[in-house]
Amino acid sequence: MLNLGVLVSGNGTNLQSIIDSIESGSLAAGIRVVISNRPDAYALERAKRHAIPFRIITNGEFPSREAFDAEAVRVLREARVELVLLAGFMRILSPLFIRAFPLRIMNIHPSLLPAFRGLDVQRKAVEYGAKFSGCTVHFVDEGLDTGPIIIQAALPLLDTDTAESLSRRILEEEHRIYPQAVQLFAEGRIRVEGRRVFVRDSAASGDSIENPAAEIFNKGPG
Ligand code: GRF
Repeated sequence: MLNLGVLVSGNGTNLQSIIDSIESGSLAAGIRVVISNRPDAYALERAKRHAIPFRIITNGEFPSREAFDAEAVRVLREARVELVLLAGFMRILSPLFIRAFPLRIMNIHPSLLPAFRGLDVQRKAVEYGAKFSGCTVHFVDEGLDTGPIIIQAALPLLDTDTAESLSRRILEEEHRIYPQAVQLFAEGRIRVEGRRVFVRDSAASGDSIENPAAEIFNKGPG
């Protein structure tokens, strides 16, 4: 069984989706430790409720980013973690951490990367006028939201969308694809060649999707 460590800072709905997938039997893994850099993260309540060991490592406790990361690596190694999941972890990891788990750290990001890296990206997608957004599960490398992409889910933006409504719809997709990506990893079906990630026995249709949908062209002038 695959040993997971999950890093959180906030609400932890993605942590919950991983827990639920494990408990329902669709994800063959176990969460060995949850690490939060915020003592008040609601994600910690979720860990407690499911009797998952957790550690709080606050930013202020350590003199440098490297010292914080070294402690996190120590905790993850002690727990025999094989795959690290960033789930709303609001802190940039240093190369020290990334190199401790090469191609063994995943992140979920609420945009279709490489569009809209960084923070508040659902608002940026709406304000930019993008016609699609979605979410991305990717391996973490030393850049910001730049690692090899494992799965993306695309969503059309609606004329009525606000940052909040889009965030809600994207979050539902996050909860679906993050456990899937972890299960693919657990099954040993993921192969990485440079930036490209290949999933054994995966099928994608080559069909295009468009937004606004093609029907607008058939209606003719009103
Ligand atoms: C999600 O939108 C995730 O994509 C981003 O931070 C948010 C975390 O939500 N990285 P939660 O804490 O998992 O509910």
